[in-house]
This record gives sequence, C-alpha cells and structure tokens, in this order.
Amino acid sequence: MAISPDKAYLITKNLLISKADEEDIPKVINLNRIALPENYSPDFFDEIFRRYGELFYVAKLNGDVVGYVMCRTEFPSIAHVISLAVHPNYRRLGVATRLMMEVHKAMARIGLRKSYLEVRVTNQPAINLYEKLGYRKTRVIPSYYMDGTDGFLMELNLEGWKV
Ligand code: COA
Repeated sequence: MAISPDKAYLITKNLLISKADEEDIPKVINLNRIALPENYSPDFFDEIFRRYGELFYVAKLNGDVVGYVMCRTEFPSIAHVISLAVHPNYRRLGVATRLMMEVHKAMARIGLRKSYLEVRVTNQPAINLYEKLGYRKTRVIPSYYMDGTDGFLMELNLEGWKV
C-alpha cells in the first residue's frame, strides 16, 4: 500500500541518520533477515561494527532501526559497501539515499578514494539507487550469489569529494 503524503512527511521529518551504536546491532540483524537473502552470522555484524564502526550507519524512526548500511575498508584506501537495506514499510522515501550520502561523507573524511559494491543483476531498485548516487557498473561477476545469480560490480570515485 502506498504511503500517504502526510505519513511520508512525518517519517522523513522524524528520521534520524546516525552512526550505529552497539545496541542497534541486534535490530540491524533482524532487518537484514527481513530485507535480504544474504544473511550473515551475528558475529560477522559484531566484527564489522567493532572494526569499521566509522562506516556503519543506521536510520531510526522513534528508536526503531528502519535502515542500515555497513561497509569495511580495504587496502589501499577503498571502501566496500557490504550490506544496505531499508525496511519494506519505509521504502521509496529517500532513506537509503540519506544513509548512503552519510556513509560516503564518512568515507571521504577518512581519506578513502573509492567505494565499490556488488548487486544482483536482477535488483533494479538497488541498481537505480546506486546509479543515481554516481556508481557505475564496471563488470559482471558470474554466479556471484549463492543461488547462481550474476552480480554487477559497481564503483564510485570519491576523489575530490568535499566533506
Ligand atoms: N523501483 C525502481 N527504482 C527504485 C526503487 C524501486 N522499487 N526503489 C528505489 N529506487 C531508486 C529510484 O531511482 C529512487 O529514486 P526516486 O524515488 O526519486 O525514483 C532511488 O532509488 C532512491 O530511493 P530511496 O527511497 O532512497 O531508496 P529506499 O530507501 O527505498 O531503499 C533499497 C532502496 C534498494 C535499499 C531498498 O529497496 C531495499 O532495502 N531493498 C532490499 C535490500 C536490497 O536490495 N539492498 C541492496 C542490496 S545490493
């Protein structure tokens, strides 16, 4: 069901984008299970949070986590977006765009030069989002996903970003 303009206004007005806190991680894990077929172990989320917390952002509405993005840094000053998701009830309101903009600013602040990610070739909503944010498809990774689906590798140049 489409969200009414009034409700959409309230959601976007009350939405908070911030770096994740430790107590957000169980909610992120829940959301990951709702939103994506790629589910990781709780230990993996904990490790990413501990090591790369600078690049782990959540979108919260009245204390609930309705979106997250988690990334890691890789040699030599490259960011890898590991996972991004928005709760199905809060999509198409700019939540993912805001999360990605915040994390790109954080990447640039710590001196990273490039961000990359993988996306299913069939995931048109995410591909549209990434292209809108400036990512470009650089190649196809055959059978990247467990079910045999190919992935696109997409990259964004962060050089020259003002933060
Ligand atoms: N169909 C087509 N384009 C879409 C779309 C859809 N269902 N959803 C988002 N987009 C594109 C549009 O270009 C949109 O801009 P517009 O609304 O002005 O047309 C742009 O992305 C920004 O959308 P936004 O509202 O910021 O995205 P979102 O908060 O709805 O989140 C996803 C987008 C992909 C993160 C969300 O659909 C999701 O969580 N999907 C499941 C998990 C997933 O696929 N994660 C990415 C894995 S690589």
